[in-house]
Amino acid sequence: ARAVAIVPAAGRGERLGFGVPKALVPVRGTALLTHAVRGLLDAGCVRHVVVAAPPTEVESTAALLRAEGIPADVVAGGADRTESVRLALRHATKVIPDARVVLVHDAARCFTPAHVIRAVVAAVAAGAPAVIPVLPVADTVKQVDFDGTVLATPDRAALRVVQTPQGFDLATLTRAYAEAGDSATDDAGLVEEIGVPVATVPGHAYAMKITTPFDLAIAEFVLSAGVA
Ligand code: C5P
Repeated sequence: ARAVAIVPAAGRGERLGFGVPKALVPVRGTALLTHAVRGLLDAGCVRHVVVAAPPTEVESTAALLRAEGIPADVVAGGADRTESVRLALRHATKVIPDARVVLVHDAARCFTPAHVIRAVVAAVAAGAPAVIPVLPVADTVKQVDFDGTVLATPDRAALRVVQTPQGFDLATLTRAYAEAGDSATDDAGLVEEIGVPVATVPGHAYAMKITTPFDLAIAEFVLSAGVA
């Protein structure tokens, strides 16, 4: 089964300080979003990509991808990430009515290795309703209260950090979004809320989320080393 992939990139977040939305920040001259969509399509298990862009940037985003020869549908996003995914999901269901596997991928994780993308799709195709790539936690993690005083030390061995693409049986994700409250930062979290089990597959260091200028420097290295 080949998946439909959704990339919510409708935020105006400018935390990287480039004066443009994060998805448009360049790595070696090419936007994060472009790298991300290309990575999805090159993995060989994605047949269609739907990008949610800021409503005023639908045309420019479509033009950006077109200029790189990357086929993707660009739709207007919503007021928050949840709404953007919901709108992209609706579009995906309309244009690919027989879709069964759907991925939701962060544009900021644009160097996710193909084997991670394939492992997520394969696990959903094999019957898991929801699958996320995860890594073990290297640092000890503390739970703190509002003033930073430590409340507890969860057992690190039982913790994982979560990456994307997250993969879902389309019917499951659609139901999770139909029943979801307002804002979720994590699609699998919505699926957990409706009582559906979420499976994990191994993630990869290169699937890191590019959030800070430091991350961007690492991304430049990953790309220049020819490993992504
Ligand atoms: O701003 P924040 O970090 O919450 O954004 C997380 C992701 O959700 C970003 O990739 C952003 O582009 C996306 N997003 C979206 N639609 C919004 C807000 C954020 O697709 N209205």
